Formats: sequence, C-alpha cells, structure tokens
Amino acid sequence: MPIFKLDLGTLTPEPLNRAAETLRSGGLVALPTETVYGLAANALDATAVQKIYAAKGRPSFNPLIVHVENAEAAQQLVSDWPELAQRLSDVFWPGPLTLVLPKRKIVPDEVTAGLDSVAVRAPAHPVAQALLRASGLPLAAPSANRFTELSPTTAAHVAKAFGDELLILDGGECRVGIESTVLDLSGDVPTLLRHGGISRREIEAVIGPIALNEKASEGEAARPSPGMVERHYSPRAELQLVPSDELTACLRTAMARGRKTALLQHTAEPLLTREATLMPAEPAEYARKLYALLHALDDRFFELIIVESPPQTPEWAGVLDRLTRATK
Ligand code: TXA
Ligand code: MG
Repeated sequence: MPIFKLDLGTLTPEPLNRAAETLRSGGLVALPTETVYGLAANALDATAVQKIYAAKGRPSFNPLIVHVENAEAAQQLVSDWPELAQRLSDVFWPGPLTLVLPKRKIVPDEVTAGLDSVAVRAPAHPVAQALLRASGLPLAAPSANRFTELSPTTAAHVAKAFGDELLILDGGECRVGIESTVLDLSGDVPTLLRHGGISRREIEAVIGPIALNEKASEGEAARPSPGMVERHYSPRAELQLVPSDELTACLRTAMARGRKTALLQHTAEPLLTREATLMPAEPAEYARKLYALLHALDDRFFELIIVESPPQTPEWAGVLDRLTRATK
C-alpha cells in the first residue's frame, strides 16, 4: 500500500477519504501525531483492533490509547468525566496528554486489555485531526512500530517496520518526538503512569500534586507481571547510559574491543569521536531528535550507542525514561 504525503496547508481530501474508508471497513492506517506515528483502527470494532496487536506482535495484555477529536468525543467513551479531566483537556488538548478514565461498555475489551478503564487523547497533529473528522470514528492507535522496537517519528520509519502492508499518511516529522504522558484519573489520586510530552510540573501547575506510579511505565496497570515490558523503545544496537565524566573511558574500552560505536553527547564538548552527535541541551529539542537519530544509527549497523546521561531533573523525565528502557 502506498505512502500518501500530505501537504499540511491544504490537507488534500483524497488520501484522507481513502484512509477513512479503510478504517470504516475494518482496516489499519498509519497516521502522524505530534508525538509519534500511530497504527490506527476503529476503536469500536473489536476485530479491527485485534489486527493492531497481530501487526505489531504486541501482547494483548497491553491496552491501547483511543484518539478522539476533542473532549466531547472523549466523553462518549467514558462513564465519568471528572472536573480534573475537564481542566486538563481545556489546557492540554489537543496535545500529548493521555487520560485514563472509567470506560463505557461500547469500548471493547480488545482496546483496554480487559480493564474497566480506557485511555483517551486528542492529538494535535493536523493530519490526525483531519482523519478523526473524516472517519467520524474514535481511533485506537499504539505507536506504529513492532513490539519493543523504536517508535516511528517519520513515515519512512513506519514503512521500514511494516513494508508494503499499510496505508501510511505522511505528515512529516513529529514535533514532540516521544510518546504522550499518561495520567490515570480513574482512581482516588491522579497518577502519572508514563512520562512523556507534557511534564509532571506542567500538569501539577494545573491540578496540583499528582502521584507517580513508581514504574511510570508501559501498561503496569494492565500487566499481570510488572516489569515484563521493561525493554521497550529499543534500537537494535546495545545502548549504554554513561555519566559525562566516564564517557572517554567507556569509549576507549568499546573501541579497544573493536565494536562499531556511536556516541550521543549533550554537554561534554569537544566531541570525543568522529561518530559522536551533539544533541540539544534542552529536553524538548532532545526528545524531538532522539528516535530519528536512533533509527539512523540502526540503519548504519552500529553495535553500541553510548549516551551521555541526561540530568535527573523533572524536565528530562520523558527522555530519561525512554533512554533507560532502551538500555534493557
Ligand atoms: O503518544 C502516544 O501516546 C502514541 C501516539 C500514537 O498517540 N501512542 C502510544 O501508544 O504510545 P502505546 O500503545 O504505545 O502506549 C499506550 C500506553 C501504554 O503505556 C499503556 O499501558 C497505557 O497507554 N494505557 C492504555 N490504556 C490504559 C489503561 N486503561 N490503563 C492504564 N494504562 C493504559
Ligand atoms: Mg509504543
């Protein structure tokens, strides 16, 4: 199936209509969001949703995010829309914040992995918004990569994972570059389940203190055995997180062993090897570039990627989480 490049100004209707038709007839479509590309199906069609798990090779105990146009559309899927949800959606939607809320019966178990809650988010990307409108459907969509592999931030990354199997809408490079923040509002205390595009501080500025799930990780809630999906977002190369003052020694050891080694630095200059990349020292900029760079290093068959450890500050939590998982 083809890749359709969309002009973000005009949003040509033809590919959008074709994608909407594919979704209505139970098929899958890859779509750009501002975080990463998603692999979408009609969230209300259990058979269509099963195709997502099959295509990704993803275990069915890991629930999916349902993408909606706006807060009104989200309310069709949840049995409770607390005031906190209203305040957060007012501020952060459309955008990279996912809210977990008690689900209505119309949301199939295939979407929620049997949980009685559903994760909803209104994406900000104009192509995602246009497809939601054109299809008139809520769209279940995990990141459009094979299970545990790197998330895609370009249409080419999606094509690399799924070859010709898929209709891919190309909306350019993703602006945020890491996945959305997942916040659970279904319990007594709002709880951060996954760090991402919106920082904990930004959320707390709107609703006050929130709890942090210790693992703040993929699907803890739904997983029978916590930690099972610790390896995630991983390049094929081995990735090591190394403090700034140990970079040189670490690099020497790797070189002595003859391993094809790349280095990601963000503070320590000068660059320590020809294969070093100077990453942005600002976390949002770093996040935007991270997956694309890891994809590019995999394409060049690096065996080891040494990454200068980013600061342990809240602003860096999303990046740090993805890098840590990539080391597993
Ligand atoms: O930015 C994103 O969130 C991207 C784009 C495509 O929107 N999507 C994405 O989906 O990263 P996925 O499936 O890779 O991650 C979904 C996350 C997982 O951590 C999952 O466990 C959590 O959301 N999740 C989904 N439903 C949940 C629920 N009912 N309760 C708790 N966590 C849930
Ligand atoms: Mg994913």
